[in-house]
Amino acid sequence: MVIVRTMEQLREALGPMRASGDRIAFVPTMGNLHPGHMALVEEARRQGDRVVVSLFVNPAQFGPEEDYDAYPRTWEADRERLLAAGVDVLLAPTVEAVYPDGVGAVTVMVDEVTEGLCAATRPGFFTGVATVVTKLLCAVQPDVAVFGRKDYQQLVTIRRLVRNLHLPVAVEGAPIVREADGLAVSSRNNYLDAAQRRTAAGLYRALQEAIRSGDSPDAVAAAAHRQITANGLEPEYAEVRRGGDLAAVTDLNGPRVLLAAAHVGGTRLIDNLEFGPEAGDG
Ligand code: PAJ
Repeated sequence: MVIVRTMEQLREALGPMRASGDRIAFVPTMGNLHPGHMALVEEARRQGDRVVVSLFVNPAQFGPEEDYDAYPRTWEADRERLLAAGVDVLLAPTVEAVYPDGVGAVTVMVDEVTEGLCAATRPGFFTGVATVVTKLLCAVQPDVAVFGRKDYQQLVTIRRLVRNLHLPVAVEGAPIVREADGLAVSSRNNYLDAAQRRTAAGLYRALQEAIRSGDSPDAVAAAAHRQITANGLEPEYAEVRRGGDLAAVTDLNGPRVLLAAAHVGGTRLIDNLEFGPEAGDG
């Protein structure tokens, strides 16, 4: 596994691979790797001849009150995991390598799908994500890039930016990896103490129950709110949107996704469940 810190080193590492016609699969991450990330790496292995993983805690996607400084950084363990998984290139750039003229020198904004849901409480988050993902895709120039369906609004945002910037990359959405009790695996689960950890699993159960009980988008969303609260979490939002593009919907006749954010103690969790006819195609 080659470890590179700058985009020049990246080009040097990838040049011979590209020249020999290898298909390059890319997985961007912020590190603190867990089974959710490793499932994306496995998918990348299936999709490409060479796998590139980036590990970069992106300052542009953290709000002033958010956990940029406290975000877990576990370099040694991450490197070992990626080595064991047969990753070819690990891109671990400095902030200066990603933002040579500073954060804000070039910004990528995606409209519509970045409004509401997580953006309601995290203004600027998706602009930070869109900007860094564009930079990483330009630097790596992969044939395929793999993202998790856990961050569904992020996945839809990236599909929209790739389509509209005409980036020649296929975007793959990989299924959510969950703990045995249903909690979606996340770096932020580390913030939970034992009691909070038990409560946290109530988010997924709430989404499942809501989908079973409601016969319209509003009824499912209202049931999700109720269930999240009943399970001891504090709901931030719960909404039903169209699968694939997050458009507003008034019925359940097609692919749908129930998306929610909730708080346990000081920790914010997100989750979603795709349902309805042809769910999961987007
Ligand atoms: P990060 O939170 O590290 O997640 C990296 C990738 O792992 C994302 O595509 C995310 O959806 C996926 N992922 C995380 N938990 C998952 C789970 N339980 N199941 C399936 N996939 C999961 O998302 C980011 O980083 C950043 O915003 C990034 C795209 C790297 C841009 O900075």
